[in-house]
Parts: sequence; structure tokens; C-alpha cells
Amino acid sequence: FGMMSYDPAFKNTASTTSAVTYIDGANGILEYRGYPIEQLAERSSFLEVAYLLLKGELPNKGEYDQFVHDVTFHTYVHENMTDLLDAFRYDAHSMGTMISSVAALSTFYPEAKDVRDPENRWIQINRLVAKMPTLAAFAYRHHRGLPLVYPENELSYAANFLNMLFRIGVKEYKPNPVLERALDVLFILHADHEQNCSATTMRVIGSAEADPYSALAGAMAALYGPLHGGANEAVLRMLHRIGHVDNIPAFIKGVKNREERLMGFGHRVYKSYDPRAAIIKRTAEEVFEVTGRNPLLDIALELERIALEEEFFVSRNLYPNVDFYSGLIYQALGFPVEMFPVLFAIPRTVGWLAQWQEMLEDDEQKIARPRQVFTGRERRDFIAMEDRG
Ligand code: CMC
Repeated sequence: FGMMSYDPAFKNTASTTSAVTYIDGANGILEYRGYPIEQLAERSSFLEVAYLLLKGELPNKGEYDQFVHDVTFHTYVHENMTDLLDAFRYDAHSMGTMISSVAALSTFYPEAKDVRDPENRWIQINRLVAKMPTLAAFAYRHHRGLPLVYPENELSYAANFLNMLFRIGVKEYKPNPVLERALDVLFILHADHEQNCSATTMRVIGSAEADPYSALAGAMAALYGPLHGGANEAVLRMLHRIGHVDNIPAFIKGVKNREERLMGFGHRVYKSYDPRAAIIKRTAEEVFEVTGRNPLLDIALELERIALEEEFFVSRNLYPNVDFYSGLIYQALGFPVEMFPVLFAIPRTVGWLAQWQEMLEDDEQKIARPRQVFTGRERRDFIAMEDRG
């Protein structure tokens, strides 16, 4: 192919340089801006991690307070956004509603088109980080025919989200601090993961200098796919279907016969245990102490144990990924399955925006435009319809 290289699905192509997230897939290492994910999950908060990913350094107290203030200031959405919600059928999947809502935001902020201005970009970034939980909660409440709950700006990022979702009547929903913290940790773990399918989508759309709302709607659409962010939903459905530990061997047999995949296992980059899955497994135990044990956890634990003893999985380096246990926690926190990809999209918004910003500041980046290896027909002449046989 001359100077061109052929690499389907970009498996061996670095499309960019990046200083945001480091993954060592062979050794199960994940770092944001150099900080190990384990330390961030234990000692940091989601908004602190968001600042780190977006700005490159941990914030000092003043910078942090300012960022929290700015994000909080932008939590409300234009009231017309609620009319948009009304256009959806009662059973609309929340992720579909969210993708449309984020795309619609671009029409409210036409100045966001000026993507070359860093100050303007920072305002749009704050807006998106702030509004995602609001849009998610609106989608959820619309889906149930419940009145919308508006942001409470004195609550934490996670608590405000939980309040907008689960508040009943005028009484504020006060989440158990263990559950509030668990959600914050899940947000930290999902905040970025270098050049995955949705981050690549964000960069590709952004490279055409589309506004960040439109680009982010595209990234969300990629995330919605069951092989990407839809996997946690698929895991829960799979665990429900298995139903009992006694049914696991038959299920594993089906996977080995390639009838279906073991959802929540395997990763393009991790060829060892996904470090996020290890943290989530511990968080799940903490959550279950408060909420009571989810019986599906026992199926998941046994599934992991059996799979990791099987030659099929061992020889292919298939280990649990982040999605294997996250759904169980989400369910214990009271989220329905269809909210799972939304819960992935909220924190990943930060990673998408950090990478979008990095791409725009990179002089070597241009509009993304891969080449192809043409395998179609050679030149031929048009045939009139009556002569086509
Ligand atoms: N169950 C059974 N077999 C599998 C699985 C699985 N979950 N994952 C991979 N394999 C097999 C696959 O059949 C292939 O075997 P062979 O070489 O004999 O044909 C081999 O392992 C390599 O698989 P691949 O499809 O070439 O690997 P990939 O890097 O293209 O796919 C993946 C990565 C995540 C799409 C895939 O492992 C998968 O479909 N997993 C289940 C879905 C899932 O959990 N996705 C969440 C990913 S992590 C969160 C995120 O980033 O979104």
C-alpha cells in the first residue's frame, strides 16, 4: 500500500500523543496525569480528579474551591430543555434521551463554536461537567413520569445527582455517606481511559472543529454500544439470565462454544486484571454492608472464579474489566439497568473534554481523515436498467 499502513480497528496505531492517562495493560496499571488510580480512588474526590485531568495538576485549595463554584454555577439547564424531554415516549431509553439533550445544548450556546479560544473552551467544559448530572436525572425522572427535581447547589456533585434522581416530594434525599462516596469513587474510576472508542470519536468529531456539545453527543453514542459502555448493562442482564450459581458451568460451556461472550470480561488493552475492577470489587462489599447483599454478586464472584480457572479464558488473557462489578453497585444504589451507560457517561465527560482540549492544543493534529485499502470493482460502464437482466 505504498507509504500507507493497513491497521483495521486501529489496533496497532497510535493516533495521537497524549499526556492525560497512562495504561500499562500487561501489568494492570492505570494512572491519570501520573497518579495511580488506586491513590486517587482512595484519597481524592471526583471534582478534584476532574480538575487534574482537565488542567494537568491537582488543584490547590483556592483553585479547587473556584472550580467547584464554577461547576456548581452551571448546573441548571435552560427551561426549554424540559420541553425536549416531553417529546420522548414514556419508555425512551435514558441514554437516547441524554444523547439528544447534549446535542441540543449546542443550540443554546452558539458561542461554543469558537473552539480555538481557550477561555471560551473552559466555560463550555464547566457547563458540560455541571449539566450532565442534571440532564441524566431529568431523563430518569421523565422516564418514570416523575416531576423534575432541580439542582441543589450546596450539595456535593454526587449528592446533588442522587437528590435530583431520588428525591420524593419536598423532602431532600439524604444519601448514606457510604453510598455517596461509593458513587464518587465510581465516577473517579470512569473519568478517563485514554484512546478508547468514545474518546477517539470525541477527537475525530472535534478535529473538524465541531462544537464540544455536538462532539460529546457523538462520543456518548459510541459509549452506548454494548461492546463499550453498554457492557455493564449487558453484564446485569447476563447475571439475571444465569439466575443461580448451579447454572454457571452450562453458561461457560456456551461461551467456550462461542455461542455468546462472557460480558464484563476481556479488554483491548488490559491483558491482566483491570485495576478498576479490583477497586470496584472492594467498593461493592462496602456498599452491600449498607444496602444488604445483592444475590447477583455471588453469581458474579463464582463466575469469575470458574472462568479464571478455565484454559479458554486464561490462554486469551481474559480477566474481569471495570464493567463486571460496576452494575452490581449501581443496582444496589437504586439505579435501574437502563441508567448504567448514563452513569458511565457522566464522569467520562471529563476524559472526553480533557482529550478534546489536548487535541485542539496539539499543533500536529489536523482533521482526522484515515485512508483505505480499496477492494471494490474496477472501472466499468453504466448499464441502463432494461439491460440489467
Ligand atoms: N467472552 C468470551 N470470549 C472473549 C471475550 C469474552 N468477553 N472477549 C474476548 N474473547 C475472545 C475472542 O473470542 C477471541 O478469541 P479467538 O482469538 O479465539 O477468536 C479473543 O478472546 C480475543 O478477542 P477480541 O474480540 O479479538 O478482543 P478485542 O480486543 O477486539 O475485544 C472486547 C475487546 C472488550 C470488545 C472484548 O473482550 C469483549 O467483547 N468483551 C465483552 C464486552 C465487554 O465487557 N466490554 C467492556 C469493555 S471495558 C469497558 C469499556 O472500555 O467500555
